[in-house]
Amino acid sequence: MEGYNFTQLANERKSANNFMENVEIKKEELEEIFKLVTLAPSCFNLQHARYIVLKDKEMKELFREKVCPQYKVHTASAAVLVLGDKMAYKDAERMYEPMKLLGILDNTAFAETVRSITALYESRGEEFMRDEAIRNASLSAMFFMLAAKEKGWDTCPMIGYDPKAAIKFFNIEDNLEPVMLITLGKEDVNNRRLRGYRKPVSEYVKII
Ligand SMILES: Cc1cc2nc3c(=O)[nH]c(=O)nc-3n(C[C@H](O)[C@H](O)[C@H](O)COP(=O)(O)O)c2cc1C
Repeated sequence: MEGYNFTQLANERKSANNFMENVEIKKEELEEIFKLVTLAPSCFNLQHARYIVLKDKEMKELFREKVCPQYKVHTASAAVLVLGDKMAYKDAERMYEPMKLLGILDNTAFAETVRSITALYESRGEEFMRDEAIRNASLSAMFFMLAAKEKGWDTCPMIGYDPKAAIKFFNIEDNLEPVMLITLGKEDVNNRRLRGYRKPVSEYVKII
């Protein structure tokens, strides 16, 4: 079901309770979704998000055993671990280099941009770096779930997994913070949950 407008997409995206078994997602289909995810916003365009997509059946079963016992990991076409890079600010030079080469930034503006990004992250310290990793990767993860839905795939964001076990399972580097797991597949609609209660806008929004 491709080609939603945003209202349809927002209404149709739900956290899948379960998936149809034995549905494969092709590498090319994942790449199409991730091409859209590339467009997600990030602080200073540092693109903190990282993804590990587990679609190999045997490895996914092992992952279920060691990291996330939820049944939907078994039926999902892929289990997607979302990570945030706490050291993303160190990439500032690389991220802004193309703008220098295109002449959008001159040498002075380029150096000042890199200096101010580095100063911000280093002055605010480790807690801020971790917050930033989680904040930016979470925005990217939401983009991923919407992009997946637009391409006809259902998802479920999950924190019901063991992040330390995930780090060990994938041998993840120290700079990467596990943010959430997303299972992806074709929803088993016989097992669909009703949409949960939503607060009225007036309860969670203050318009001044
Ligand atoms: C950060 C986060 C963690 C979640 N963890 C789980 C989980 O471990 N298992 C699960 O079945 N659903 C999980 N959910 C899905 C929520 O239960 C779901 O988003 C919520 O009930 C609203 O339903 P909807 O997404 O269908 O609108 C999680 C959602 C979020 C945003």
